[in-house]
Amino acid sequence: MRHLASSLLLASLSAFALAAQPIQYVESRKIFLLTTRDSSYAMGVDLNGELQHLYWGAALWRADDLPAAVPRRELSSFDPPAMLEREEFAAWGGTRYYEPALKLTRADGNRDVVLRYLSHTMHDNALDITLKDIRDDIQVVLHYRVYPDYGILERSATIVNRTAKPLMLESAQSATWNLPAGEGYQLTYLTGRWAAETQVNHEAIHQGMKVLESRKGHTSHNINPWFAIDAGDAGEDHGSVWFGALGWSGNWRITVEQTPYRQVRVTGGLNTFDFAYPLKAGESLDTPAFYAGYSAHGFGAASRLLHRFEREQIAPGGLTSRARPVLYNSWEATTFNVTEIGQKQLADTAAKLGVELFVMDDGWFGKRNNDRAGLGDWTVNPQKFPQGLKGLIDHVNSLGMDFGLWVEPEMVNPDSDLYRAHPGWAIHFPDRPRSELRNQMVLNLARNDVREYIFGFLDKLATENNIKYFKWDMNRPLSEPGWEDQPVTDQRKLWVDYVRNLYDILDRLRAKHPKLEIESCSGGGGRVDLGILRRVEEVWASDNTEAFDRLRIQEGFTQAYAPKFMSAWVTDVPNMNGRSTPLQYRFLVAMQGALGIGANLNKFSAEDTAMATKMVATYKRIRNTVQLGDLYRLYSPRNGDIAANQYVAPDSRQSVLFVFRHSQEYSTAPPAIHLQGLDPRALYRLESLDNKLVERQPQLSGAYLMQAGLNVTLRGDFDSTAVILEKVQ
Ligand code: GLA
Repeated sequence: MRHLASSLLLASLSAFALAAQPIQYVESRKIFLLTTRDSSYAMGVDLNGELQHLYWGAALWRADDLPAAVPRRELSSFDPPAMLEREEFAAWGGTRYYEPALKLTRADGNRDVVLRYLSHTMHDNALDITLKDIRDDIQVVLHYRVYPDYGILERSATIVNRTAKPLMLESAQSATWNLPAGEGYQLTYLTGRWAAETQVNHEAIHQGMKVLESRKGHTSHNINPWFAIDAGDAGEDHGSVWFGALGWSGNWRITVEQTPYRQVRVTGGLNTFDFAYPLKAGESLDTPAFYAGYSAHGFGAASRLLHRFEREQIAPGGLTSRARPVLYNSWEATTFNVTEIGQKQLADTAAKLGVELFVMDDGWFGKRNNDRAGLGDWTVNPQKFPQGLKGLIDHVNSLGMDFGLWVEPEMVNPDSDLYRAHPGWAIHFPDRPRSELRNQMVLNLARNDVREYIFGFLDKLATENNIKYFKWDMNRPLSEPGWEDQPVTDQRKLWVDYVRNLYDILDRLRAKHPKLEIESCSGGGGRVDLGILRRVEEVWASDNTEAFDRLRIQEGFTQAYAPKFMSAWVTDVPNMNGRSTPLQYRFLVAMQGALGIGANLNKFSAEDTAMATKMVATYKRIRNTVQLGDLYRLYSPRNGDIAANQYVAPDSRQSVLFVFRHSQEYSTAPPAIHLQGLDPRALYRLESLDNKLVERQPQLSGAYLMQAGLNVTLRGDFDSTAVILEKVQ
């Protein structure tokens, strides 16, 4: 009863929050209150003109409730006021010893910067607050954007050098997020490596600093730029969770710092490692967008807020973008041995299964017969494709499928015509080794001639061929990041300009070819973040397509990113780790994202073909629910031998339950699975994929399904099932 009363209270508060102005400003006390349906965020200017954080948590509706920001007194000569305060965006200067959001050196060596409020502007859902150094005309514009219907706040900063002399930036962060004062917080974050991405970590936050970062030039498989913090008591469906995600596909950094004064601060933006960004007089630098939100209902609700925001506000086309088609990719079937005849054969079979987009992977260009040659030479190999790409594309199109093509634009093999013509284009320090990984080097995309070369060949490919989709790969990180053509002061701009030019190419390609779709791949999930997701339809979550490993990779992926973007293929067994799972299990795992098939279809038996055809057809019935609906992670594959995920359609008419059992011990029956997100008063018609549902009643109420739960008979190792629920009108 108490629970019901508090949810009613919250519901009415959310209604208040929605009715409240997204941005309120109280002039008399210089307080800003930003409000979404789920959360509020407040800051105020104190008597010294410093912008102090005031509140981050569940939605408020009345800015007048908030106390004015007040400067603190020193606790001791070792505990200065600045350390006790919660500055919104602190520059390194004065007596600040924590992680700053800005650090710079002036031409004369002076490094002290103290920022004070100068002015602000508000328009629609955006607020810009300008801070200025106490002496020099060094300004920082803090950008805030509220997404009231999505529960998300976006922050970034522009650092402007309005002095007459150059500055060297040493740290340029997007934002500092202050948690409510306290201790006992827990940090959740995603780590991994190639073929083992997005593993969920959950640990206590102690005094000191935890650094999440990439120094590799791309987002990286090792840590993903997302965090969630809870008060130590949150679960999938309960508890307060503060979360954030950074939109940057290069060197990024998020620090989680607990000060000695019971304060947790999260600061994130461009990585400070090897960072030096010069600003000449009049120049400015924009830092990446850092998105954040608050959920009072656990990690599941936090993910759902992010998912909806990403689908509707981040992804190209947003609400109007189409559902992801069922894709076939040739990589695991043919690796580099692609030929027109072989691809046509695969396409014939793929079309029969119901595939909608046929993607030819690596091996079609230059002298690319293995990974030792050809990267950089983006012309069709005439031995493999005597008619150019046209013969294959026309065939694919005649089967009713769109055509997609693999490219790896940023890379070069030393054994390529491109490298022989432009050895200086590969990133290197003069007279130093040029480390190769997978026999390849990285082109210096920060250079505008390289940018134009890459845009040029991609534009040509998309103009001359009916290509609907590029799978854009990036198969190694950067190393030896020299840029000898630049003055020494400008050489480290490479880290930032590389990513900007990458974004520029993607933006221009999309503008020129509005129907073109792009997948971001970086040896699997090495480039998944909210910066790249503004520019691509899908991401390849992992090169590991082994279904049981994938369940855990997908669990981590969906903490931060929507299933719609999660390209997931069914491939052959035994897989890379030696494990074999049944075809149905592999399909059901992949059907929880954007379904693809990467198996060698030439080896499919009649039974496999029948199963694949049935599963593709089933997927098409449920894909709007999976891709656009709400995800409830009911049982984690990390705990126990059952994993279950449920999706509920946006109009709540359909719901799909996926259940997996990976290693039965004893003859214990799986637990009852309590569904979520249904209408308790509605009836649902139940359709079991394979008769593994214990309940035999054709219809059950939402209340029963959520309170009593469903039972399935899953036995042995790697058993699986799915249940489709349709709301009865
Ligand atoms: C990377 C990708 C794979 C495939 C190969 C091709 O490893 O992640 O999916 O495209 O490159 O070389």
